[in-house]
Amino acid sequence: MSEKLAIYGGPRAKTTPNIPMYPGGLEIGDEEKRQVLEVLDNKYLFRYYGPANVESKVKKLEENFKKRYGAKYALATSNCTGALISALIACGIAPGDEVIVTGYTFFASCAAIVAANAIPVIAEVDDTLTIDPEDIEKKISPATTALMIVHMRGVPCDMDRIMAIAKKHNLKVIEDCA
Ligand SMILES: Cc1ncc(COP(=O)(O)O)c(C=O)c1O
Repeated sequence: MSEKLAIYGGPRAKTTPNIPMYPGGLEIGDEEKRQVLEVLDNKYLFRYYGPANVESKVKKLEENFKKRYGAKYALATSNCTGALISALIACGIAPGDEVIVTGYTFFASCAAIVAANAIPVIAEVDDTLTIDPEDIEKKISPATTALMIVHMRGVPCDMDRIMAIAKKHNLKVIEDCA
């Protein structure tokens, strides 16, 4: 406690290097390269439309994803914005519906809601920098039909509280894990 702050010449509080902005990219190794090259070699790029004698990797990915998460359906998309729009449409979000979305996210979260002809309603974040469940309750109106929550930068939202609120108000929940 008696130590000087680093800003006044004291020892640095943080001595480890910052994690780079592309942590996912750091995971790319030989297996990932092999998988991508296999797709190119097989000339099978999609879920459908490929040579009959090889398996679609997209289809395989969806099947593995379903198994891993115990989900009934899985749909691979070209990017997260497409996934968010697909999820909103699949949830039946209609023009004029209000979707509560976290205040700290990438603009794609709100853009997807607008693309689905719905209205983004921004909720505050709490100390975790993820959506504040207390503020979700304050933002619910008769037009609210869904919550779009973001596990921002890998920090999980408080799903127990969020799902309890969603259940109470009969709201769909879309999770953005990008
Ligand atoms: C939280 C979040 N949601 C959605 C997206 C959109 O992803 P994509 O660029 O794959 O459409 C991003 C992209 O950075 C993101 O950070």
